[in-house]
Amino acid sequence: MSDETITILAIESSCDDTGAAVIHNRKILANIIARQEIHEKYGGVVPELASRAHQQNIIPTVDVALKTAGIAKENLDAIAYTRGPGLMGSLLVGGTFAKALSLALNIPLIEVNHMHGHIMAHFIDDNGKKTPEFPFICLTVSGGHTQLVLCKSYFEMEIIGDTNDDAAGEAFDKAAKILELPYPGGPLIDKYGKDGDIHKFQFPKPQIADYNYSFSGLKTSFLYFIEKNKKANPNFITENLNDICASYQHAIVSFLLNKLKKAANDLGIKQIAIAGGVSANSYLRNELSLLAQKENWEVYIPKFEYCTDNAAMIAITAHYKFINKDFSNQKNASLARMSF
Ligand code: KG4
Ligand code: ZN
Repeated sequence: MSDETITILAIESSCDDTGAAVIHNRKILANIIARQEIHEKYGGVVPELASRAHQQNIIPTVDVALKTAGIAKENLDAIAYTRGPGLMGSLLVGGTFAKALSLALNIPLIEVNHMHGHIMAHFIDDNGKKTPEFPFICLTVSGGHTQLVLCKSYFEMEIIGDTNDDAAGEAFDKAAKILELPYPGGPLIDKYGKDGDIHKFQFPKPQIADYNYSFSGLKTSFLYFIEKNKKANPNFITENLNDICASYQHAIVSFLLNKLKKAANDLGIKQIAIAGGVSANSYLRNELSLLAQKENWEVYIPKFEYCTDNAAMIAITAHYKFINKDFSNQKNASLARMSF
């Protein structure tokens, strides 16, 4: 089968969003997401509720994706799904559905690593938009991961830096919870921070070796900072929300970019990408673009819809796996932890 005729249905269900996408060659024909609002009031994803919602959402989501794409399931060449990493109950719903559909249609099954998918989103054909050239460094920042990845080819990716504790997305979400904002708080900190002063409040700069990260100290110092100030002024948060968000966001983003800069300089790489939910952050996107001008980097920033969890990124990864005939096995179990 040539590259010209590959049509794949991809399913993503690693956390709290049920995603289904249809890809034809490298073009996305449909990218449907059913978001689960139930978690907002709990201040975080409740795994059992997430799996139940996936069960309810998966059939309608897939149905809408196929209809939007105008593709009959008989015309699909393969079914792809996220094997891991993620929440086990959530992964099982998407995985089981994908396996059953591939059996029923008698077409290949393709498994995708979610973190690989976040990076591969850069290779979606978006009206001929330029794609990164190998080797490039990708800063993958999400609710569960913070990684600096040296990407040597579509399938050769080496994690050169990782977080020792919390992920960048958690640093956003946990601070938002302290500020009594709903989950996920990252986009809200972004929103309030836009009108704030980044230098109003100072937070400690984490001192971590190599290209690694750590966010737990920053989060704890944020908690003490808010508690102390609330004691002195019960309205401290509401009176200073924009400045608090801007200053805290500045601390996270500076840390992320300092390590990225160090890795790029040490390795002599000027092709730089960002991926994952936190790459939707407007301050990070702006600061990265400014740094790129200074450092003479070529930067690749995904479209918003391909930053947070989506099935299009699973579909594009599956496209390249299909070309390599890298098919999966019905026996392969979902994996809560999975390296790539
Ligand atoms: O990649 P993703 O959708 O799911 C995981 O694989 O974890 O990332 C979700 C994370 C959440 O922590 C969310 O707060 C964060 O991405 N996020 C943001 C923004 N949009 C999403 N963080 C900061 N600013 C944003 N605009
Ligand atoms: Zn993700």
